[in-house]
Amino acid sequence: MEKEKKEKSFEVTPYEVKGVLDDAEYERLMKEFGINPINKQLLDRIKKHTKELHFMLNRGVFFAHRDMDWLLNEYEKGNKFFLYTGRAPSGETHIGHLVPWVFTKWLQDKFGCELWFQFPDDEKFMFKQNLSYEEVQKYTYENMLDVIALGFNPKKTHFILDTKHAGLLYPEAIKVAKKITFSTVKAVFGFTNDTNIGSIFYTSMQTVPAFLPSVLAKKNIPCLIPLGVDQDPHFRITRDILPKLGYYKPAIIHSKFLSGLKLYGGKMSTSDSDSTIWTTDTPEQVKKKIMKHAFSGGQSTIEEHRKKGGNPDIDVAYQWLYFFFEPDDKKIKKIHDDYKSGKMLSGELKAYLVEKINAFLKEHQKNRELAKKQIDKFIFKV
Ligand code: TRP
Repeated sequence: MEKEKKEKSFEVTPYEVKGVLDDAEYERLMKEFGINPINKQLLDRIKKHTKELHFMLNRGVFFAHRDMDWLLNEYEKGNKFFLYTGRAPSGETHIGHLVPWVFTKWLQDKFGCELWFQFPDDEKFMFKQNLSYEEVQKYTYENMLDVIALGFNPKKTHFILDTKHAGLLYPEAIKVAKKITFSTVKAVFGFTNDTNIGSIFYTSMQTVPAFLPSVLAKKNIPCLIPLGVDQDPHFRITRDILPKLGYYKPAIIHSKFLSGLKLYGGKMSTSDSDSTIWTTDTPEQVKKKIMKHAFSGGQSTIEEHRKKGGNPDIDVAYQWLYFFFEPDDKKIKKIHDDYKSGKMLSGELKAYLVEKINAFLKEHQKNRELAKKQIDKFIFKV
């Protein structure tokens, strides 16, 4: 036990992700959080309903879950679930944010689900000293455009903004808050006596959309939450409390993080623009950042690379293709093999990634413009 603690090189909470997360660290995180690996049996079960599997499932980008078997049992009995995810608008959107959302859209399409998407414009306002309420409102708008641009079904997607929908959320949030003690949130989030009281209350707001559709429908509806694994601690609290209020525990499916450009396994961060690709970056900016900063698993000279080959396992450009930008299994395998054998050079791998990202962003930025006229359709009408 003691030994394990000393070796631990990461820290993952909703308010801090530190250290390098490689496969071994994700394994350890699963044990620490008490979440289950997604195994072949579960994949087959999902595939029975979706006919094909999203590459993020096949490749372990979504790697862990809670209660997926229960959710599918209910589904097979005809008890359909809804989806719930969210984004605290604390800055512009980067491509790492898009990973769970792209997968959520796939789930919506395959299972025909309603999606409740929360923009907690209270959360980061409370947690970040230098973030003003006005800035948060601006980012809420910008972030909504990115979500809409991914193509969610406007008839089945409902945006919840915490301050705008306060009248709807608050009566439910207080029921949750009444069941959470300060010592629980201290232990789960690492709060201290110096933490402001808004931050202490916040997790109750994040719980509400996990049962709000059941409140509105006046019957219990199962919920599935796709999320980045750092968000799991909030929903450990949710899962503890909802049965006490008479609702189902939500099921959860967890994704890994897309690395920042400069270090394999480091979470993409909003504070280092050189390490991050924003959804509004120009093709030139993308090219410059990738060529200059993407951490490479290649050798230092061409001769050496041809001889020894590169290491895709620690190469950020390769990881981005694998996680997101090259869904084609045959193509990604060829890239992997060619890079490893030395046939493909690091510069060629990066150039391929630049091309892929720029093609994606061209489409995304076009959809983002169109999204400006659609926002009203997505915001939930009470
Ligand atoms: N706390 C999340 C963030 O920092 C936002 C969020 C709200 C969320 N509800 C969620 C994320 C549900 C995943 C699932 O961005």
